[in-house]
This record gives sequence, structure tokens and C-alpha cells, in this order.
Amino acid sequence: MEGARRASRYWSGPAAAGRPGRSVQAADRRRGPPVKGLILSGGHGTRLRPLTFTRAKQLIPVANKPVLFYAIEALRAAAIREIGIVVGNTRDEIQAAVGDGRRWDVRVTYIEQPEPLGLAHAVKLAEDYIRGEPFVVYLGDNLLRDGVRDVVDAFRDGAADACILLTPVRTPQAFGVAVLEGDRVVRLVEKPRDPPSDLALVGVYLFHEAIFEAVNAIRPSWRGELEITDAIQYLLDHGRRVEARRVTGWWKDTGRPEDILEANALILEAIEPAVRGQVDERSHLSGRVVVAEGAVVEESVVRGPAVIGEGSRIVRAYVGPFTAVGPRVHIEGSEVERCVVLEGSAIVGLEARLQDSLIGTGVQVVRCHGRPRAFKLVLGDQARVEVL
Ligand code: DAU
Repeated sequence: MEGARRASRYWSGPAAAGRPGRSVQAADRRRGPPVKGLILSGGHGTRLRPLTFTRAKQLIPVANKPVLFYAIEALRAAAIREIGIVVGNTRDEIQAAVGDGRRWDVRVTYIEQPEPLGLAHAVKLAEDYIRGEPFVVYLGDNLLRDGVRDVVDAFRDGAADACILLTPVRTPQAFGVAVLEGDRVVRLVEKPRDPPSDLALVGVYLFHEAIFEAVNAIRPSWRGELEITDAIQYLLDHGRRVEARRVTGWWKDTGRPEDILEANALILEAIEPAVRGQVDERSHLSGRVVVAEGAVVEESVVRGPAVIGEGSRIVRAYVGPFTAVGPRVHIEGSEVERCVVLEGSAIVGLEARLQDSLIGTGVQVVRCHGRPRAFKLVLGDQARVEVL
């Protein structure tokens, strides 16, 4: 019975096709056993409501690309070609966006998690899929500037049972936290009220199969989840070798709206400028600006880093730094800066600048013309509006 249930939890597309680029081929020839990837893409995304009422949080675009795609690309750049994606109630949407992985020259297998019972629970469900190989767990809402290639190579060639990535943060109580003695990890604690250090666990973990003994032995935490942090603590308690590495470059957990805006700004900073759409001679672009195919910029100023998505129309407007305008957005007679505006929305005739805002799909923010002059709002549950 259990065997039958397990078998039906996994499904995947055909073997990956396509030709990898030359640098990827070179990376594929690295020594050591093949490493699998395991992206955790279940969960409820409650902190990103209302956006997550209608989409998986891992599919929210950052610089016009779903967060989850960055995770797949990071694993592929580390020469990983077998990727399991743990999915929950947004599985259809995630599967529709990612498919069988051939776009990245990887083979994706979906692993169903009926309820989000914790990161260690998700790892437990993947045991048959991993089949004794070393693997990288990558949280589907995390972004790392420098990817995971170096850590995967070091882990593959090393002798540790697990490797965690750490970085100092200002709010350690929001993360798993590690205590080190020299370079040695001595204690881990999940979201401590009184943090014993400021070193947060980044959402990338490398494991050998010893982790399965741990995830099967631990008990749910006070919040009812099987915590990966507790599973790694179990490894420490049982004399296993847990290595810690500090991340180089920035790291972002995109769990909250302000994190999405910040991640968007960080990614845009390194974007390659390209103008494929139409920009009229009365418009002015400066800095790193992408104008995608079919986009039109008229009588406007776009100050990068910024990206204007396919088929969008920017008319007599100002688009300021760190803004990602999604596909088919209409911005007219308005100013936006440090915003993420998703597909099909309209921002028209605003008197004040729209700033630091996350605008969902098909949203209209427009000037009120008739009388009485008033704010007229149709807001989804848990929306947030700050007015002048
Ligand atoms: O981002 C780093 C932090 O991630 C670590 O510092 C913490 O130690 C770790 O517990 C985790 O904390 P979060 O509260 O941020 O985890 P979250 O619930 O946001 O889940 C992370 C990803 O895993 C997200 O893409 C959803 C997915 N997930 C989550 C749960 C609870 C699953 O696939 N299944 C689950 O059961």
C-alpha cells in the first residue's frame, strides 16, 4: 500500500532533450557522483497574500521571471540535470509553467506533498526519488546572486554528511539560526525568539543519505512542522559531519512583499540592457533598460535599471529605477518607481508618483474623473493601500 502510494507521488516528463551551452557541458564533466536537485515549491505563501490567492508564490515574477526559474537555472549551472520539484496545492500551475524541464536541459520529476507539513517532511517524501545520491535542497522562493555551483562542487568532492549555507541578517528571529564554534556548527534553532547568533540558514542545503534517518526520526515542532533545522540538529547530535559555508554575494528569501521589491532591485542591477520594442524620439532611456518585443515607449522617460515587458505601453510617463513592468501593462500620464507591476495592469493619470509598490495581475490604478472626487477602491482580501 505504502509502496503504491509512493510510486504515484512522483511523475516526470521524458528524458531531457536539447543541447546545453559549452560552459554547461564543461561543468557536466566534473568528477564525483551525480548530484540531484530538490526544489521545495509547496507551502501556502500566506505572507504574500493577496498575490498568492491566485498564484503560487514561487511563480511571482522578479525582473519579469518567476522566482522558481532562477532556482532551476542555479541548479543547472551547477551541472545538475535531475531535479525533483515538491509541489502542493499549486501543482498544476507550477507544472504548467515549468513543464518537463527540457527548456533548461534538465529532467524534472514532480513530487506531491499533500499538505505543507514542513521542509523535512518534503525531503522525507523525496527519499525514493533521491535513491542514495547526494542532493541539494533549494527552497523555491530563495534567490542567491552567486548560485550554488561552488558549494555543490565542494560537497561532491568532500566528506561531509550535510552542508548548510549561512549569512548574517538583521532579523535572525525570522529564520533558522546557527551557532558556530570557530568553523564548527554546534547548534541550530528554527526561528528563535531570542536568537543565539545573527547567522541565518539560507534556503539551500546539501545532503547525503544520512538525512533520511534524521527526517524520519524527528518530531513536529511547536508550529506543527517537521523542521529541516531539527533534522540537521539530529545529524549533529548523532556525530555526523555538518559543514557550514558563508554565502558570497547577496541572498534573498522572497517570502514577503518588501522582499519581492528588494529581490527585483537586486536582479535588475545586473540586467543586460536591450531595446527590442519601439521607443519614439521624444522618449529618453538611461541606465540599464530592457524594452521587450512589442513594447512601445512614447514621450516618456525610463531611468534604469528597469524592464518593460512584452506588449506594454508607456505613454507620457516616467518609469524610474528598480521597476519591472510586466507584459501588456499600460502606464500613461503617471510616474512609477521601484515597483513591480504584473501582467495586464493599468496605471493611468495618477497625480502622485507610485513608489515601492507591488501591483498584481489585471489591476487598474486610475485617476477618478467624475464627482464626487474620492478614492474608489475594489480591493482583494488582505490588500494594502497607503494613500496621500
Ligand atoms: O529562507 C530561509 C529559511 O527558510 C530558513 O532560514 C529557515 O530555517 C527555513 O525553515 C525556511 O523558513 P521559511 O519560513 O522561510 O520557509 P517557508 O515556509 O517559506 O518555505 C520555504 C519554501 O519551501 C517555500 O518555497 C515553500 C516550500 N515548502 C514549505 C513547507 C512548509 C514546501 O514545499 N513544503 C512545506 O511543507
